[in-house]
Amino acid sequence: MTHRLLFLGPPGAGKGTQAQKLAESQQLLHLSTGDLLRAEVQAGSALGQEAEAVMARGELVSDNLVLAIVRGRLVAHGGGWLLDGFPRNLAQAEALDQLLAELNQPLQKVLLLELADDELVERLLARGRADDNEAVIRHRLEVYRQQTAPLISYYEARGQLKRLPSYGSVEAVAAQVQLALA
Ligand code: AP5
Repeated sequence: MTHRLLFLGPPGAGKGTQAQKLAESQQLLHLSTGDLLRAEVQAGSALGQEAEAVMARGELVSDNLVLAIVRGRLVAHGGGWLLDGFPRNLAQAEALDQLLAELNQPLQKVLLLELADDELVERLLARGRADDNEAVIRHRLEVYRQQTAPLISYYEARGQLKRLPSYGSVEAVAAQVQLALA
């Protein structure tokens, strides 16, 4: 089983859902930058105050801020891990490469969850998080296309990317994830 993984995909594709299941079953550190940022917002920290309005607009929080969060968690952790929602652009992917080289913990696989826009929007509207209204969801999809989607070819060129259709039940997608890692 692979122990250093990354989930990639548009908002609503099921990254958080699948990452949580897999992290539990394999006892991996689940590192979701979205969850960590929301916890900072909830706590009212300086970092959270800086991130809140940016997240509400569906834009990306500054690379330095997010990198500091990820670096702290990975440096402090000895075992396997699973990144969800990070990296989000090429600068973050390059910074991650550098950090993992420093830690001597190379990334093993990137799982790309794919789903059509209409289904993404439907799932997110049903969830109803603070940034899940239609206008912000459409903007998040645009930000994904412009800034995050280039990471698909970045990891594909290294032979690390597995594409997984994210249709069907949570369990059906989880079964695909297991197959991709076998
Ligand atoms: P983040 O929290 O990462 O949100 P996101 O990428 O938009 O992803 P979502 O959580 O919306 O979707 P998901 O793919 O995880 O799907 P989920 O499993 O939840 O980021 C939020 C914001 O934080 C960003 O906009 C940005 O501002 C900031 N941020 C975060 N990381 C950053 C970074 N690295 N750099 C800069 N800024 C950053 O599922 C969605 C819904 O669908 C759920 O209700 C779920 O129950 C349901 N569902 C899941 N699977 C299925 C299924 N198979 N069938 C039916 N329903 C399903």
